[in-house]
Amino acid sequence: MIDILAISGSLRAASTNRALVAALARNAPSGCRVSVYDGLGRLPIFNPDDEGGRTPGEATTFIDAVTRADGVIVSCPEYAHGVPGGLKNALDWLVSRDAAVGKPAMQVHASPRSQFARAALAEIMKTMSFDLFDGPELTITLLGKRQHEMDEVLADVVNIASMRDTLSAFSSFVRAR
Ligand SMILES: Cc1cc2nc3c(=O)[nH]c(=O)nc-3n(C[C@H](O)[C@H](O)[C@H](O)COP(=O)(O)O)c2cc1C
Repeated sequence: MIDILAISGSLRAASTNRALVAALARNAPSGCRVSVYDGLGRLPIFNPDDEGGRTPGEATTFIDAVTRADGVIVSCPEYAHGVPGGLKNALDWLVSRDAAVGKPAMQVHASPRSQFARAALAEIMKTMSFDLFDGPELTITLLGKRQHEMDEVLADVVNIASMRDTLSAFSSFVRAR
């Protein structure tokens, strides 16, 4: 079983990125399990003075979840052409640990825009030694949609097949590592 940790970079209750990672969890193909990390908003602001024995519990929970996962999927909005602070903060908690080193990872997208944030996040994750998926990334456009519209798009058979195909391809990438 390939265990994947999925992270939404948005804290918004009606988040399109959150809806996308939840749909990935619902539609995982056999042999692949996707769990959603929902603690981003509870993580304290990273401070290098609070590492080692002083690491806060929420940060330890996140670091352990990444360590245990076989791979990580991130779905992230773009704020002012950058990566939202909450997600960057979470990633900062991993920088001086082994959790991210060689960990297979991929981005998925709920917005067809956000090219700056996609590139910035790839650069950050590469620098942290995540092993970035080299296949095609999944984009399911949910930008600007209300809940019932998102539900419709995410229940579409073509989109369900795309989610399954993406997770299968990513699982093969993980297995080959
Ligand atoms: C503060 C803020 C800044 C944003 N800046 C950008 C931007 O620079 N480029 C862009 O494409 N979208 C931008 N957006 C739009 C969001 O990226 C878009 O609404 C996103 O898909 C929302 O994700 P969510 O539904 O998961 O919260 C911004 C939104 C907010 C709230």
